[in-house]
Amino acid sequence: MTSGADWRTRVGDAWAAEWRRTDRSFVALDPTLLTAALSALGEGARVLDIGCGAGATSLAIAAARPDVEVTGVDLSAALVDAARSRAEGRADFRVADAAALSDDVRYDRLVSRHGVMFFDDPVAAFLALRRVTMPGGRIVFSCFRERALNGWATEPAAALGIEAGAADGQAGGPGPFAFARRDEVERLLTAAGWGDVRAGPVDYEYVAGDGPDAVGEAVALLRRIGPVARTIADSPHGAKRDLIERLAALCAARRFEGRVVFPAAAWIWTARNSEEPQ
Ligand SMILES: C[S@@+](CC[C@H](N)C(=O)[O-])C[C@H]1O[C@@H](n2cnc3c(N)ncnc32)[C@H](O)[C@@H]1O
Repeated sequence: MTSGADWRTRVGDAWAAEWRRTDRSFVALDPTLLTAALSALGEGARVLDIGCGAGATSLAIAAARPDVEVTGVDLSAALVDAARSRAEGRADFRVADAAALSDDVRYDRLVSRHGVMFFDDPVAAFLALRRVTMPGGRIVFSCFRERALNGWATEPAAALGIEAGAADGQAGGPGPFAFARRDEVERLLTAAGWGDVRAGPVDYEYVAGDGPDAVGEAVALLRRIGPVARTIADSPHGAKRDLIERLAALCAARRFEGRVVFPAAAWIWTARNSEEPQ
């Protein structure tokens, strides 16, 4: 389970320190998500990036469509600082709970790269998000499919002997796999009043490391981000060294043509705010 409190502190701080590496892990998913996010986006549209993190998706949209106005919101002040540091005025970033935004401003398109699986009450959150969406506006987001299809999570946990799912929310509650079940996500979007709800599966390569020290890069990412990070951080010195060596051996076995790559599986969801224009 990863709660909002975790994102505001420990987990958000780790992502803010590692944003270049976490961005790299999504490079093979980004084109598909971006195509869906930009599809039929009107001239001058207002776009909201939910759980924007260090801002990669916001900035990619702003680069592809300089006519649109992009705002990113995130719980983590450290991540919003990171986003602002690379924005160069191309998008606005704010510290805010996406489930509690004022509906004074309404957006034509809501997007999120893996930023919507952490709400305590997802139906209430998606209802609140619909209320900040223009009638006829769309939401487009990615999230992970089942844990078993996501080797970036299962393989490091198995290599380190950590119980499957113990650290990542599989058991229920907010977390990276909270939206793995298609029927469950469809139910909660529909319950929140979203219409035209659709999901498509995407299998992609989770690039943990590349470059001259691809294994070192992958270890640097996985020891701080994901299901084994907490165990490594909490281990005493000698045990920590052993865990990191085991992680390095796994990453070396996963190195191929200069990159360390694990299997990953996501959904891309789209839905429409079918509320009639007033
Ligand atoms: C897995 S990270 C993804 C970050 C970013 N979208 C990316 O792709 O790099 C999830 C993000 O959602 C944010 N988040 C979680 N719950 C949130 C909420 N209720 N409101 C705003 N942001 C939230 C976290 O702080 C975190 O930055």
